[in-house]
Amino acid sequence: KNTSLRKVWNEADVVRTLPIRKRSSHKGTYGKGLVIGGSRNMTGAVTMTAKAALRSGAGLLTMAVPNDIYSVVATHVPEVMYHPCSSMNGCFAGEIDFDNLDIDAIAVGPGMGRTLGTKSVVQKVLCQDVPVVLDADALYFWKDYVSIVNERKQATIVTPHPGEMARMIDVSIHDIEKDRFGISRQFAMEYGVYLVLKGPYTIVTTPDGKQYVNTTGNPALAKGGSGDVLTGMILAFMMQHANIQEAISNAVFVHGKAADVLIEKGHSPLDVLATDVIEAIPQTLFLLY
Ligand code: APR
Ligand code: MG
Repeated sequence: KNTSLRKVWNEADVVRTLPIRKRSSHKGTYGKGLVIGGSRNMTGAVTMTAKAALRSGAGLLTMAVPNDIYSVVATHVPEVMYHPCSSMNGCFAGEIDFDNLDIDAIAVGPGMGRTLGTKSVVQKVLCQDVPVVLDADALYFWKDYVSIVNERKQATIVTPHPGEMARMIDVSIHDIEKDRFGISRQFAMEYGVYLVLKGPYTIVTTPDGKQYVNTTGNPALAKGGSGDVLTGMILAFMMQHANIQEAISNAVFVHGKAADVLIEKGHSPLDVLATDVIEAIPQTLFLLY
């Protein structure tokens, strides 16, 4: 194994690579992002993804949610534009119209449900010529996306936790945990994707097999919604940063560091909510800028 292709992505790397905002910039400078997700049973996930993206510097953000939950979600996120899509039983029916959307990057998956409508929406998303982050329920039908992913010219970023990774490649979670580096590298290189294998010591692997390990974060993040927050941060950082690996690694670092900051400042690992992590992004970025 070529271990020289592995490195810890540390605070100095983040400080060195975080994009600076030019005085002459405007909202369009920082990209136009689209967050797609949500269903009647999971209205919060996509809300947290969008809020995390907004707290991480996204210039312009649009949310695409099933029509059934549009008014609920819109009450919670006033800063974005909306693209309500046709619903079926509280989930995406399968249609999403990109004709009048001007978008630079997409994150899809949080709270979508594992329906055929989800599968159809994700397939349409992957046909768009922009970087795409696939998370949560957008990973459920992975095998049905492989041929489309192979055709893509822009980056595909997949962000499974070990359980999702295990399902994607038909092995047990134990098999994943035994060889997180090896399995990550094989997957990323085989499919030509950026793989973010989550958990303590999240590993970011590039399509050419380079690996970057994160050391921030703590068990306060072992809670529903933490992953949805990370997805929004990855989207926003990618919108502002040309180097995709740096953008992803920085998002993973800041996400974990935000949870660490909370533990240092008045929280226990028990009481930290995913929404607290979002609200800790500003003070965390303040430490790094
Ligand atoms: N130490 C450090 N980081 C951790 C720890 C830990 N002990 N535990 C979790 N994390 C981090 C992970 O690295 C990851 O960034 O928290 C995040 C958890 O992400 P997910 O596992 O995706 O968790 P969650 O947001 O709860 O996602 C729940 O995703 O897979 C779907 O269907 C699933 O509905 C569920 C949803
Ligand atoms: Mg998740």
